[in-house]
Amino acid sequence: MLIKLDESYRPLVHKVRDDAGEWLSTKGTDQYRGGLDMSQVHANIDRDFDAFEFVGWKVAGQVVAMLAIIDPEAEFWTAEELAEPQTYISRFFVVEHGKGYGSALLRAVIDSARTQGKHWVRLNCWSTNTRLHEYYLQHGFQHVRTCDIPGRMSGALFQKDLRSS
Ligand SMILES: CC(C)(COP(=O)(O)OP(=O)(O)OC[C@H]1O[C@@H](n2cnc3c(N)ncnc32)[C@H](O)[C@@H]1OP(=O)(O)O)[C@@H](O)C(=O)NCCC(=O)NCCS
Repeated sequence: MLIKLDESYRPLVHKVRDDAGEWLSTKGTDQYRGGLDMSQVHANIDRDFDAFEFVGWKVAGQVVAMLAIIDPEAEFWTAEELAEPQTYISRFFVVEHGKGYGSALLRAVIDSARTQGKHWVRLNCWSTNTRLHEYYLQHGFQHVRTCDIPGRMSGALFQKDLRSS
């Protein structure tokens, strides 16, 4: 079941981000690596939590996956793209891997966006993580382009066209 996450879920978002860092360190990617200041990472999550909606996927009374629906980032997308009706996702995490919880949440968010008349679901993700890119391709997204902006390692842009499927 798709739910909106209220304030009580803020610590869980911090925790799944911490866990994702540990998990990714076993996946041969530099995503989320490199001496990050975790208090800054949490502060960035808090900024999004205060400004945007977070949604979760609930199974047997527990939130098992979550993501934020944010404004598209102007440094990555053209003015024309920014103006299009879209749901822009970020901070996509699962509590437990290998159960399809993330996929279920992603499908629900896509269905919801389609129902709302949006034309696109879009996101940016880690530029060099080809396995993550495959994940989005497997979920019906297309790679738009990869932006090389200093200090922004998440410049791989993906979108799903809701009018064609
Ligand atoms: C992305 C995510 C929410 C998807 O959840 P899910 O649909 O339940 O899928 P799983 O976690 O079981 O992963 C499915 C497959 O994708 C791979 N995958 C997913 N995210 C990946 C990543 N960031 N880097 C490398 N591989 C990744 C998994 O290794 C797994 O591969 P396998 O089937 O060969 O074992 C979850 O994998 C996650 O929390 N990843 C870490 C955080 C992250 O990268 N979020 C996306 C930021 S854009």
